[in-house]
Amino acid sequence: MKYIPTLSIDALTPYFDFLSNLFGFGDALKQRVLNLAAIKDGEHILDVGAGTGSLAILAKKQHLHAEVVGIEPDDQALNIAMRKVETSGVQLSLIQAGAECLPFRPASFDVVVSTLVFHHLPTEIKKQALKEIYRVLQDNGSFLLADFGESRGLFLGVLAGIVKMTRLPESKTAQDNLDGNIPMFMREAGFSIQEVATKFRGVQFLRATKR
Ligand SMILES: C[S@@+](CC[C@H](N)C(=O)[O-])C[C@H]1O[C@@H](n2cnc3c(N)ncnc32)[C@H](O)[C@@H]1O
Repeated sequence: MKYIPTLSIDALTPYFDFLSNLFGFGDALKQRVLNLAAIKDGEHILDVGAGTGSLAILAKKQHLHAEVVGIEPDDQALNIAMRKVETSGVQLSLIQAGAECLPFRPASFDVVVSTLVFHHLPTEIKKQALKEIYRVLQDNGSFLLADFGESRGLFLGVLAGIVKMTRLPESKTAQDNLDGNIPMFMREAGFSIQEVATKFRGVQFLRATKR
């Protein structure tokens, strides 16, 4: 399976947690997502593109009676996530898979979350991933997506400029995000959507509900 790793280049994956915390995309962002996701006891939660596992671990620590599953295609990120799960002492499942082919039965989850993943996916994979997320959600279940939105403001403008200059693969795959197309793709997949918080460093918070 082809995928763009956490920071584009495999050699940078071990530094992902440090760098994402440094730029405000680490635990602080994950906590915002969890607050918005409003997880309840006993719910089944899926983290799509779990990376090094930070969001899934935080979710399980804060919701001991929820069942948390993370999927992630990248071996290296997955190994880091597994080590972090072991040391954190929480119990959750991490599975190697891509968002475009989720290894779950229909209606398996109450809440799906995903942070900073969609800008790594080519357009067709984004659309397929949204169909898959819709399929695995229960009726009235929600998908909380935090990822770069329509490009406005200095921070995202500078970041997008750097990515373009360095010709990283994200300069192509992030274009749908920067053009503001993600809400349209979500509607096409069947979701009702709502922007549920103000943007943070160019990151948009969208709640997509399965009706
Ligand atoms: C910037 S990292 C974000 C990781 C994590 N969600 C976080 O916020 O810390 C992007 C992640 O998307 C994953 N990814 C890339 N292609 C994917 C796909 N097709 N399906 C699921 N995840 C994918 C990468 O391997 C990487 O872990």
